This record gives sequence, C-alpha cells and structure tokens, in this order.
Amino acid sequence: MEKILVTGGTGYIGSHTVVELLQKKYTVIIADNLSNSTIEVVDGIEKITGIRPYFEQVDICEKEKVNALFEKYKDIKAIIHFAAFKAVGESVEMPLEYYQNNLISLMNLLEVMKKYNQPGLVFSSSCTVYGQPDHLPVTENAPVKKSLSPYGNTKQIAEEIIEDTLKAHPDLKALSLRYFNPIGAHPSAFIGELPKGVPLNLVPFVTQAVAGIRGKLKVFGNDYNTPDGTAIRDYINVVDLARAHIVAVERILAGKQKSNYEMFNIGTGRGSSVLEIIQTFEKATGEKVDYEIVDRRPGDVEQVWADTKYANKELGWKADISLEDTLASAWAWEKKIRKLK
Ligand code: UD1
Repeated sequence: MEKILVTGGTGYIGSHTVVELLQKKYTVIIADNLSNSTIEVVDGIEKITGIRPYFEQVDICEKEKVNALFEKYKDIKAIIHFAAFKAVGESVEMPLEYYQNNLISLMNLLEVMKKYNQPGLVFSSSCTVYGQPDHLPVTENAPVKKSLSPYGNTKQIAEEIIEDTLKAHPDLKALSLRYFNPIGAHPSAFIGELPKGVPLNLVPFVTQAVAGIRGKLKVFGNDYNTPDGTAIRDYINVVDLARAHIVAVERILAGKQKSNYEMFNIGTGRGSSVLEIIQTFEKATGEKVDYEIVDRRPGDVEQVWADTKYANKELGWKADISLEDTLASAWAWEKKIRKLK
C-alpha cells in the first residue's frame, strides 16, 4: 500500500492516526524528534496493530534531514504533519521558539513536496483560528480572528502559508483539519496522552487528579455566559479524530478535493461545559473528581463548538464515540500508566 509520512507520529494524535493507517494497510513512516514523546509509543502501536511502522528520529526543522527522508523512502504518497509545539501558555513565554518550530517545519515540508513531486499534505490545524466566534456552532466560513497566543497564531499563519504556496503551485494538494478538543485514549489502553509535567489541558488534569498525583482540579471560572457558568468546548475522541485523517488522505489520493486547498472542522458538533465533563467522567468511571472554582484562565474563550455538517457530508466522516466511553478510555489509560487497579 501507499507510503504515508507522519511527522509527530509518536505524539498523542499522531500515534492514534498511525494505528488507523496501519490497520488500513498503509505503509507508515514516522518522523519525530521525540521532544514531547517517547520511543515506547512505537511499541504500543505495534502491540495494537501487529505491525511496526518505520521510525526516524528527525527534526522536521532540519531541511537536509527532511530531504534525506525523501531520498531514503522513495515515493511517499502523502504527508500528515502533526509535529509542532502546542502549549498556549508556553508560547506566550517563548514566541520565537513557537514560530520557528511550527512554521519552519511546515515550509520545509512544502519545499520537499515541490522538489519530489509529492503533492499531498494533511495539516493539523485548530479551532483556535476562530477565536470566540460570533455565531455558534462555528462553520468553516467563520472569519479567522486575531489570535490570543503565539501558538494560535502559528496555526493561522501556517494555513496562510499553505494557501499562498498552493496558489502558486496548483499541482500541490493540501487539506487542513481544524481540531476542536481531542480527548481520550485508544480503547486498548496501549497508547494515549502523555503530557510532560503538570497537564494544562482539562482531561489529563482530571485523570491525574483522580489518580491522586495532582491535588484538586481547578475549574477556571464559573461566571461565563453559559448555562452553568463554566466554559464550553467540543470534546472529540482521539480515535474519531485519527479516523478523520484517513479519510482526508484518501480524499487527496483519490483526487476528490473540490479545490487544491480545503479546510474542515473536526469536532462532534456538541458543546460540553467543564462541569458537564466532570459529571460525565464521574458517571463513566464511578470515581469522584474533587474540584474548586477559581478565576478564569487568561486567554480562554467562553464557548466554542463545531458545525460539522460540511465535514460530515464532504468527507463522509462523523465522530461517533460517546463522551462517556471517551472519558472512560482516558481513565483506563491513566490507570494503566500509573499501574492502578
Ligand atoms: C486550547 C485551544 C486549542 C488548542 C489547545 C492546546 C481554544 C478554544 N482551544 O484548548 O485549539 O489546541 O488549547 O492546548 O482556544 N480547564 C479547567 N481546568 C484545567 C484545565 C482546563 O477548568 O485545569 C478548562 C479551560 O478553562 C477550558 C476547558 O477546560 O474551558 C478546556 O481547556 P483545555 O483542555 O486547556 O483546552 P482549550 O483551552 O479549550
């Protein structure tokens, strides 16, 4: 089967996508510098699929190494580009590192796509490009708003770089997936999210708090203009999200795109508040989540969830794993890595 290059393939979303690709019999080459993941993830992928993907420890910001990858693995048919920094707060402290890492890697890939006449790219974008949308649910036509963080800005600029490059090179093809909030783990519990240090995202904090290693969960604000006062997001199961990448690659390879650069919202179409996540987690796992309400977190939007009609129709894809199963999978993974019963 076709060879697919997955940058950041040992990361959280990358590893789940590699599993789905291998299960569909694609040949997968992972390129990852292991800056935020470990090589053991490849073992987890192999345990699930029975196949060991090729692995190259490469930083995509090093252009010569990216060229060497394409020399070594002839006829790579498409690239799924996950490798990037993604911590909003950190990006405010280290903007240049974020712009360099997230944008140079993308430009290197676009260059090799031209050079090796390899036309297809699936790009990891984010709903953060919409900021606080004026209308909910948010559609792909909503305006991109000024980003509140360098991280968010790297996603906006990356989309513009892709758009401009593809205008100049109509033979290239790309598709950006704007993810909402990916959560959960593979049902096998062989792979999942492995944040370094104190988790900044809600669900990893919840599972670590319940595992007894983080103290109480802090709920950031209950004075938002939402039914229970806490902020609302569209939480999507990481396996559903991974599957969206397979249909995206297949759309490019089959020449089914409506234009050579497309973007899609990848969410469930449902919004859940922080308190709803806590309650659903408790129901799904039988565990109690201790929490306290604290001030809002600077830079957080109040509420955002996806209008997924366009992705559902055009990609023939839909998120269908329930929030309860998803939160149970996050807990099963946490218990496994902490060796809890
Ligand atoms: C944000 C971006 C997303 C980006 C991600 C990267 C938006 C809408 N989303 O996700 O595009 O990819 O950062 O990390 O900008 N919360 C708590 N307590 C906690 C942690 C979180 O109450 O300890 C709350 C937050 O205030 C928020 C919700 O939980 O309302 C989700 O937060 P988080 O998981 O960090 O994701 P976003 O900030 O939505």
